[in-house]
Amino acid sequence: MTATATLFSLEGRTALVTGAGRGIGRAIALGLADAGAGLVLLGRNGSTAATADEIAAAGRPVDVVDADLGDLAGLRTTIDEFAERTDVDVLVNCAGVIRRAAFLDAADADWDEVMTVNLDAPRLLSRWVAAGMLDRGRGKIINIASLLSFQGGKDVASYTASKHAIVGLTRALANEWAPRGVQVNAIAPGYIATDNTAALRSDPAREAEILARIPTGRWGRPPDIVGAAVFLAAPASDYVTGHTLVVDGGWMSR
Ligand SMILES: NC(=O)c1ccc[n+]([C@@H]2O[C@H](COP(=O)([O-])OP(=O)(O)OC[C@H]3O[C@@H](n4cnc5c(N)ncnc54)[C@H](OP(=O)(O)O)[C@@H]3O)[C@@H](O)[C@H]2O)c1
Repeated sequence: MTATATLFSLEGRTALVTGAGRGIGRAIALGLADAGAGLVLLGRNGSTAATADEIAAAGRPVDVVDADLGDLAGLRTTIDEFAERTDVDVLVNCAGVIRRAAFLDAADADWDEVMTVNLDAPRLLSRWVAAGMLDRGRGKIINIASLLSFQGGKDVASYTASKHAIVGLTRALANEWAPRGVQVNAIAPGYIATDNTAALRSDPAREAEILARIPTGRWGRPPDIVGAAVFLAAPASDYVTGHTLVVDGGWMSR
C-alpha cells in the first residue's frame, strides 16, 4: 500500500455506525467497510440486516447490535454487553429523526424524541465508547450534523436545536480528548435525497426553492457523504479535530 493509501485505509479498525439501515448511514457503513473497516451496525428492529448482508457479501466482518436510540436505559445495557466483546475504533453517530411542525403547534413528545435520538444518544454513546478509545489512546468520533447546525430552518425547531447542540458537543469533546488521541468531528450534509427530506421533495414549490439555492444544481445523494466519513475515520485526519465538514454542493457559500 502506498503512503497515501495508508492514510485513508481503515484496515484493522472497527467502526460502529448508527442509522445504517438506510439513507446516509447505510452509505457511510458501506463506505467504511470498503475502506477496510469491520463494521458494527447499531439499529432497531432488525432494520440494519440488509446493510449487514451487503457488507458480509463484500467479505468484511460485520456485527449487528439491536438497540432503539429512543430508549436510553436499554441502550446502556446493550452497550455494556457489547463493549465486553468489541473494541470500537470509530463511532459514527448518524441516526436521526426530524419532526416538522410550526413551533407553537409542535408536540412536546416530538421535541423529546428528537432531542433523545439526535443529541442524548450520541452523547451517551460517545461517553461509553470513548472510554475504551481513551484507554487505548486512539479513536475517532464522527457526528452527523446538518446545515441546520448553522441556520434556523423552517418548522423544525427541535431538529435545529438538536443539530446546533451536536456541533457544540463535537467541539467540547474534541477539546477534552485531543490530548488523549481521540478526534471528534462532525459532517454537516446539505440537502440529501433520503427519507429525511421526502416531505420537502414531494412539495414542488419547496423542492424548487431548495434546488435553486444549491450551486451544484442537484440534491445530494447518500454516497456524496462517504468521502468525508472515510477521511474523518482514517489516519488522514489525525490532526483534524473539533471540525464540522460541510458537504452541501455549495449551499453555505451562496
Ligand atoms: N437527508 C438530509 O438531507 C440530511 C441533511 C443533514 C443531516 N442529515 C442527518 O443525517 C442523518 C441520517 O439521516 P438520513 O437522511 O439518512 O435519514 P433517514 O433515511 O430518515 O434515516 C434515519 C436513520 O436513523 C435511524 N433512527 C431513527 N430513529 C431511531 C431510533 N430511535 N433508534 C435507532 N435508529 C433510529 C433510522 O432507523 P430505522 O430505519 O430503524 O427507522 C434510520 O436508519 C440524520 O442524523 C439526519 O439528521 C440528513
